[in-house]
Amino acid sequence: MSGAKQRGSQMAIIGAGSVGSAIAFACLMRSVVSELLVNDFNEKVCQGQVLDLQDAAFVSSTKVRIGTPKECGQADIIVITAGARQRPGETRDALVLRNEEILRSVLSGLQPIKSTAILMLVANPVNILTCMAQKFSGLPPHQVIGTGTYLDSNRLRVAMRDHLDVAESAVNAYIVGDHGDKQVAVWSSATVGGKPMLSFEEMKNLDLDKEAEKVARKAYSIIDLKGATSFGIAAVVSDLALSIILNKLSVNPLSTYCERFDACLSFPVSLGANGVERIIYPDMNDKEIAMVEASAKFAREACAKYIS
Ligand code: LAC
Repeated sequence: MSGAKQRGSQMAIIGAGSVGSAIAFACLMRSVVSELLVNDFNEKVCQGQVLDLQDAAFVSSTKVRIGTPKECGQADIIVITAGARQRPGETRDALVLRNEEILRSVLSGLQPIKSTAILMLVANPVNILTCMAQKFSGLPPHQVIGTGTYLDSNRLRVAMRDHLDVAESAVNAYIVGDHGDKQVAVWSSATVGGKPMLSFEEMKNLDLDKEAEKVARKAYSIIDLKGATSFGIAAVVSDLALSIILNKLSVNPLSTYCERFDACLSFPVSLGANGVERIIYPDMNDKEIAMVEASAKFAREACAKYIS
């Protein structure tokens, strides 16, 4: 045996608060990578989380340890959860000032970032932070994504699963645009088992705006009740990491630069080892397009304001 020691696949999680640690736990349970590196500016909490995670690693093929910012910059997947979290009633957009500063400092600590790494933004407002990271990380834009509206789409699918009595995997429906108050449920082209969702009898008397509003407000309810959301986003990140590591090209709505709207927005993309392979715009009616345009305007203006 000779040559350099191979290290296997690595994933780094920056931020070991309730979101980062839940993501680490989900990725550990699914043995997504060979090694998980965790970093937080609060070294004491980080050490505590890592010791606790190591106790759970016996059911996993993944090892977990603290990573320095430089080591994290060399991981194959780098997940950024570091940032201020929403206070009860606060919008995600209100976090932008605090979180853009944190993001800039995290990105500079990671440098030089591995040229093939996939950078995944989780902190909010995720479209805006994705836009900033595309500009400041030095990586090609298709390697920089945000978790976007994948979680919101799952929330919608679960609601429709219960309404229509089918498995959620049969519900092909997307929330697109903003992972926040301006998110758009694309009802017009949603299908269930190949049939347009809106043609189901059970959908006839449903107030669609109210259903979409319930989905958009779900995070607020969780934050009111327990202070933060964590398990849903953790499941989402573990799924995306698997799609990258296994080059599955799974299609899910993620934050990425969308040429059609000239802004970082969340739309279905196929995600594999090289990052985003293609963006798929679902068919949308005029009302849905107008709503997406409104999010695009906001995202464009916010990015222009903070990226200078
Ligand atoms: C949520 C957070 C991730 O929607 O924004 O749960």
